[in-house]
Amino acid sequence: MSQLTDRFGRKHTYLRISVTDRCNLRCLYCMPEEGMKFLEHDRLLSYAQMVEVARTAAGLGIRKFRITGGEPLVRPGLEELIAGIAALPGVEDISLTTNGLLLAPQAAKLKEAGLKRVNISLDTMDPTRFKFIARRGDLDKVWEGVQAAAAVGLGPIKLNCVLLKGVNEDEIGKFLQLSVDQPLHVRFIEYMPIGHDDSGWRSYYLPLSRVLEEAERLGFALEKAEGPGGSGPSDDWRIVGAAGTFGLIHPVSDHFCQSCNRLRLTADGNLKPCLYWVDELNVKPALGSSEAMENLFYRAMDIKPKNHEMAARLTDEQQSHRPTERRMSQIGG
Ligand code: GTP
Ligand code: 5AD
Ligand code: SF4
Repeated sequence: MSQLTDRFGRKHTYLRISVTDRCNLRCLYCMPEEGMKFLEHDRLLSYAQMVEVARTAAGLGIRKFRITGGEPLVRPGLEELIAGIAALPGVEDISLTTNGLLLAPQAAKLKEAGLKRVNISLDTMDPTRFKFIARRGDLDKVWEGVQAAAAVGLGPIKLNCVLLKGVNEDEIGKFLQLSVDQPLHVRFIEYMPIGHDDSGWRSYYLPLSRVLEEAERLGFALEKAEGPGGSGPSDDWRIVGAAGTFGLIHPVSDHFCQSCNRLRLTADGNLKPCLYWVDELNVKPALGSSEAMENLFYRAMDIKPKNHEMAARLTDEQQSHRPTERRMSQIGG
């Protein structure tokens, strides 16, 4: 039973732990092309410290852990963290969100350490377009990562596709077909304004109603699906007879804050009650005291807001509070 209930009655069972703000890509929706001022290594929580936070979280009813970045696989020795979390009582699910580039050589040892599944970012199936969106890296390596994950049983595998107006919207049909042909779970994601100036975001933002319109235009019969592996934010569907599913993550056009069950820990040790707003609680002073750490989680429940206000940024409406200045890479999505 989760002891983490906020002021709006939402029970929290899911913690996302970011292990680094660094990444080997520069996706246009996440990080500036020139990169960022990355955290010095001595400001990162160690894996042992992350496990300490996770232990308190598990004791309070967190059952599902997700490792994120930046790109988590650029931080060496991730299996130490995974094994540490897997050994905690009550943990039901440990998953990883990755861009896939470094996954193939590490998939087997991550699985062995206790990782259950992976969500892999894949915004396009076109190698030239990949270079435009991700600005670095190589699409073939991502597919190698997907295949390696499948080969070692790191599934169900979800593919995260951020839809960008005028960039990859013409690939919706191809991604839907992929969910028909292979046992993969494609999730379309709305581009969120996190730490951005609004002008760039607005020009690329696309509401996910486009996906259902495209499915209809292509004549696909749809049925509601049970999201595989966990209680994330996705609204899940299956094309009748498909091997996989597809999901819609639409925080901007239709937010899902009323069912939010998650907290975040940043790589520099801040507990974030909400992805969107500025508020965070530094865990470093609480390290070494399980009581102080528990109190921090309770405090996160007290200050967690009802919802974000991303949609208001489409029309320049006043925000009721201060949005975070962190970029997505500094939070972990
Ligand atoms: P599953 O457990 O497999 O369902 O994973 P997930 O969807 O929770 O995690 P993932 O890291 O794959 O995130 C997919 C997308 O959902 C990313 O763009 C995240 O930023 C976004 N996302 C996850 N949680 C939240 C949330 O609480 N609020 C908002 N607005 N977006 C979220
Ligand atoms: N809006 C929506 N999704 C984003 N991601 C990163 N930045 C954004 C953004 N601004 C996605 C990545 C990854 C997941 C953690 O979040 O593609 O799949
Ligand atoms: Fe939860 Fe905040 Fe995400 Fe809304 S934006 S679903 S409140 S973390």
